[in-house]
Amino acid sequence: MESRPYNGRDSNGRDFTTTLRSNDTIYTMILSFPPVCLIVLVGASGSGKSTWAKKHFLASQIVSSDQCREMVVDDAASQSANEDAFALFHQWIALRLKNRRLTVADSTALKPGARDRLIELAHTARVPLQIVAFDVPLDEAIRRDAQRTERSVGERVVTRHRAALEQALRELPKDTRLSGVHLLTPEQMDTATVQTTPGALTAPAFDVIGDVHGCLGELKTLLEKLGYDRTESTHPEGRVPVFVGDLADRGPDSPGVLRFVCDLVARDKALFVPGNHDDKLFRMLQGGKVQRTHGLDLTEEQLLGMPEKERERLTLDVLAYLAPQPVHLVLADGKLAVAHAGIRDDMLGQSSDFITRFTRFGDVRGFAPDGMPIRHDWAAERENGDDGPLICYGHTPQDEIVFVNNTVNLDGGCVFGGFLAALRFPERERVTVPAERVYAQKRVHSEA
Ligand code: CTP
Ligand code: MG
Repeated sequence: MESRPYNGRDSNGRDFTTTLRSNDTIYTMILSFPPVCLIVLVGASGSGKSTWAKKHFLASQIVSSDQCREMVVDDAASQSANEDAFALFHQWIALRLKNRRLTVADSTALKPGARDRLIELAHTARVPLQIVAFDVPLDEAIRRDAQRTERSVGERVVTRHRAALEQALRELPKDTRLSGVHLLTPEQMDTATVQTTPGALTAPAFDVIGDVHGCLGELKTLLEKLGYDRTESTHPEGRVPVFVGDLADRGPDSPGVLRFVCDLVARDKALFVPGNHDDKLFRMLQGGKVQRTHGLDLTEEQLLGMPEKERERLTLDVLAYLAPQPVHLVLADGKLAVAHAGIRDDMLGQSSDFITRFTRFGDVRGFAPDGMPIRHDWAAERENGDDGPLICYGHTPQDEIVFVNNTVNLDGGCVFGGFLAALRFPERERVTVPAERVYAQKRVHSEA
């Protein structure tokens, strides 16, 4: 059987992920959706949208305007309750997207204004939006509507909807705010299958990137060297960047790095584990009392230099997408672990305040009388490292990237004039980019 995958972008620059497999004359359509997205159904009443949605999605993933009507006035058909029903509809969708849940919006979505509102919700949550439009001929939609026992809207309404759909079908392909448009004929509604594309956590390969500290130029150069697309920052082989944390502070463009990584993480195109600098930044952005030391003063200054709207947007996004990320990740079927300052084998897959502290600062066991932290070299002390995952981390600048008991510290001290480092996994290849200049002076005193 010949298979024709269409991946990439269409002439409007949108992701086009539909696959057509031809078997002589029969085409089976595979609709491919990102793991977190808003799927907006567009079609006349009676065309079979709800029936199709129930066939392919969990009941909890479907938010329908009928159900919202029923919830507010006990009647799924009541048009008088539209205002309240749609307030609930939008609020429900917004909450699901905030929680990064795939959501199917089941309403007719025929009016541009109705779609605008949904596009706005998806954009606010930084979740891609895909349209599934149901191109059912008028007579068939009327027939389907008439055969409904529970609720039918009648020929006049279906006819009006069909005219609105034709207008929508002219507008949708031109709408660059959408990340995909799928058009289904009645036959394809019956035969098309649905899949979600794998998310970042299940990527086939990773590029683990060391402490960036605001070095946006070096980060972009590094990604390019690693083979990422310059505009989209995605990899043709589906590789995923994993940031070991400490995105900001001391460097020339911390807001730029935060914006960049946040957008990738929100689109499920990158992974990130927070480090000690990130944690402090999150607390500052939440309005907490934190000392503006170790370069946080510079980050704050850069943030205050931004236009207010952009700063507010960035603050919300950082707190929504970066702050909740787990402090360590176990990837590649347990063969790769990532934590900012490292992690011990007995801590993998667990969480506690102690483990969080360990992943932020390493194995600090108290403080000497002069205030210096007493550190243990957990990597050097690691036993049977080859039985466990490769542990990638950063936190303490290195002159050279070396493997120690199947661990590797990827902090090349870029912000101090060193280099920005990445490790290709599973290849275990080191890729580095030299710092464009020295942005900060290294201090002997360590942070803990
Ligand atoms: N139906 C059908 N063949 C299909 C899909 C649906 O005969 N391939 C029938 C359903 O059994 C139902 C009718 O068409 O009786 C309308 O389907 P429904 O899913 O309720 O349509 P919606 O588009 O969801 O209509 P509304 O906008 O009014 O909710
Ligand atoms: Mg319906």
